[in-house]
Parts: sequence; C-alpha cells; structure tokens
Amino acid sequence: MDRLQIFDTTLRDGEQSPGFSMNREEKLKLARQIEELGVDILEAGFPIASPGDLDATRAVAAEIKHCKVAALARARQEDVDAALRGLEPAAKPRLHVFLATSDLHLKYKLRTTREQALEQMIKMVRFGRQHCGEVEFSAEDASRTDIGYLCQVVLAVVEAGATIVNLPDTVGYSTPDDYAEMFRNIRAHLSAYPDVILSAHCHDDLGLALANSLAAIDAGVRQIECTINGIGERAGNASLEELAVAIHVRQNRYPVATGLQLEKLYPTSRMLSAITNISVPPNKAVVGANAFAHEAGIHQDGILKNPLTYEIIVPEKVGVPARRLVLGKHSGRNAFRARFADLGFTITDVELADCYRLAIQRADEDKEISDRDLITIIHQVRRGQSPASAGSEAGTTANAR
Ligand code: KIV
Ligand code: ZN
Repeated sequence: MDRLQIFDTTLRDGEQSPGFSMNREEKLKLARQIEELGVDILEAGFPIASPGDLDATRAVAAEIKHCKVAALARARQEDVDAALRGLEPAAKPRLHVFLATSDLHLKYKLRTTREQALEQMIKMVRFGRQHCGEVEFSAEDASRTDIGYLCQVVLAVVEAGATIVNLPDTVGYSTPDDYAEMFRNIRAHLSAYPDVILSAHCHDDLGLALANSLAAIDAGVRQIECTINGIGERAGNASLEELAVAIHVRQNRYPVATGLQLEKLYPTSRMLSAITNISVPPNKAVVGANAFAHEAGIHQDGILKNPLTYEIIVPEKVGVPARRLVLGKHSGRNAFRARFADLGFTITDVELADCYRLAIQRADEDKEISDRDLITIIHQVRRGQSPASAGSEAGTTANAR
C-alpha cells in the first residue's frame, strides 16, 4: 500500500488565523502532542513573521525528533534566512519555500511578471537546497494558475532541487474534479521525476477542503497538508481528523497508509481547544460533541442493537470516551430503559411506560433529560405506584451517579 505523508500545519496556517495565536510554551505543548499523533511533517511556523515566531520555531525544532519539522519562507532571501535559522536545531529539517503563481497574485499583490517570479523561485529553491537537506516548494494560488505556467514553474523548481511540490487551493475555489485534473496534468509533466512527491493543501471556503484533498489522493498526491480541528485562514484548512477517518473508513476507496494513531485524534483536538479557548462546533465531524451522540428514538434503538446501524466508526477508535445517547423528546423507550439500567434501576414495562410519559413531558420543557431528572422520575413513579419500592434497589440517588 502507498504511504501518504501527513503534513500538519496547525502551528503555522492554523495559528495565523484570528483567535488562534499561541505562545512558545503552548506551541511546544501542542507540537509534542501532534508528534505523538503520528504526523510525518510538522510545520512549526513562519519565522520571518516575528521574533516570537522564529523563537517558537527554534524551540519546536529543538524538541521534536521523530517527525520532520518544516519552516515557511516566501521566495525571498530574508525569509529563507530566517526559516533556516529557525530550523538550525532540527533533527529532520524541511525548508518550505512559496511564491504565488496566479496572474491575479502576480499582477496585483506582487506587482511582478511571470518571468521575474520564476527567476526568484529558482534562485531561492537552489539556495535553500544548498543549506537544507529537503526543500518543499508551494505555488500559492496554484488552483487559479494558468496550467501552462504552472507546469513551467513545477519543472523549474524540481530542477532547482525541490523534492516536494505543493499545489494549494489557497482560496478554497477548486472543485474535486478540477483539483484532481490539475494534479494529473502536473504529474504527466513530471514524468522524468517520478520520485517527486506532489502535495495538496486545501482551504474550506466552499466546504470542499476534505473532498478536494481526497480527490488529490485519487490523482496520485502523496502528501496532504491539514490542521487539527480544520483551523486555518478564513474558513480553515482540511481537517486532519476528518482526513484520517475518511482514509480509515474508506480504505477500499483510498488504499493509502498513514502513521497516524487514530486514538489520539480526540485528545489532540481537545488540547487545541483548551489552549486556544475556542471550542469546536458540536456538529463537527469526528471530534464535535454530537459526532457520537444520538437522540432520535429510531437511531437510539439501532445503536443499542448494533452501533454500526448509525455509526461508521466506534467512538473509542478516535479516542472519544463513549458515545452519548441523549435523552430528549425524540428518544424512544429502549433508550430510556438502557439509561435506567446504567443508573442501576431494573424497571418493569409498566414503570417504563410511566417514566417515559413523564420524561417526554419534561423534555418538551427542558430539551434534554439529565440523569438527575431520570432518578427523580423513577422515584416519583415508584412512590406513586408503591411507596415502599423507592430507593430499594442499587440505584438510589446517591449511588446511581
Ligand atoms: O494556502 C496557501 O497557499 C498556503 C501556502 C503558503 C502553502 O498556506
Ligand atoms: Zn494555506
């Protein structure tokens, strides 16, 4: 099976988005966790951005030894010098040089020509390669770049020494078909360099970052750039946890292997939320609070009979402590019976019918039924039916929680 390299850019693309900046200690803590998660490359920062970014990049580079550490630089001498300084302590350094290639960016942002930009890219990749064992080149806004010029750029940077070529969908504009086609064109153009790794880097402006990343894998890409919780510029990057689970669950469709430890996905997501104080939306795939929660009666009944009915992966596999059967007005009797059993109450069908009626009434007012509510309800029902039976089982209020 082909190996897919996972390039994590949480500490760079993720960190540069509003609300997610982290200090040196926070970056170090998260870097250690991301390394344990099993990524292949960890992008530590953009050292030219600030002295703090340079310092944090150096700290991460000094500590992270199992995976490669990358530092970002525009194709400019000062940037590359700063990135190389950041990477000095790294055991496995990767210099990541980028420059925009679309006419829009060349004309309005960089105010340069295709020819001048090409010269700059070649010069900086060649220089970088003299000072770093591994150079990745990214063609910013690749998905909106003229394909003829993009072919020219890719061949030139490979000849200058880049061994990884990343073609980002910088503004999240591409569709899966467009993105895959671009990679197929580029791969054909690089037929003399079969060992060059093509890489995808997708933004989620149209909600297509994961779909585009998967389409890229289909088209032969063997490195995906992504972030924990999908954080990143604007709508974010492709989410690492979604990618990991998609590949795991759909091995038949994407026969590639990664070094990821899936059980570390949820703890890593939680650590990022805790550090940045920004929680993930409840409906976020894989790591959201509702990703393994079930309220509808039909779903709860299915889950209790066989979890595969409504879950494509068991929560423990991605490190989520347990699935949640949420008791609310959509829940069915079986879910109530199961929760009562968890709380230590074996209830009769008649008691269940009464409890269910009271619980649904309460759910209409309060939305969600808590364990405390259930205990109150069962005591109420039992008191009504047979006062002596309340609290006679293992499930008293005190010992049931
Ligand atoms: O989105 C992008 O194009 C980037 C590059 C700098 C890799 O983040
Ligand atoms: Zn990006």
